[in-house]
Amino acid sequence: MRCFVSVRRAASFVALMAFHTMSVYAQTCAACHGPDGDKIAGKTLKTVRSRMSAEQLTAFILDLKPPMPKVFSEPRTADDEREVRDVAAFMATWPQ
Ligand code: HEC
Repeated sequence: MRCFVSVRRAASFVALMAFHTMSVYAQTCAACHGPDGDKIAGKTLKTVRSRMSAEQLTAFILDLKPPMPKVFSEPRTADDEREVRDVAAFMATWPQ
């Protein structure tokens, strides 16, 4: 039955999700921002969380301004929006 998901399977699902989240950031943002978000002097992404709400950050990433490339251009797919939420969620895992 669906409600009897084993703890082990649930744990590996969480690990897989965390890996996916990290890889979207690694592929689309880390080249400039570094793996820990602190490669651009004075623009560390670690403190973004204290300056933007989750909604503001999601909107910001969906519509990146120059010098950043428009990673998620129009028309956006449901996958794009999921990836943006993943990136925002990944950034929220950094210690401040
Ligand atoms: C081509 C290089 C490049 C890429 C790729 C890039 N960025 Fe940036 N990003 C920058 C630069 C340069 C700045 C600083 C812009 C400024 O000073 O106005 C910045 C600023 C930011 C800021 C604002 C930081 C602040 O302190 O206000 C956020 C948030 C951000 N980037 C998130 C992202 C995310 C998330 C991605 C991946 C989806 C990404 N960036 C991809 C170069 C990049």
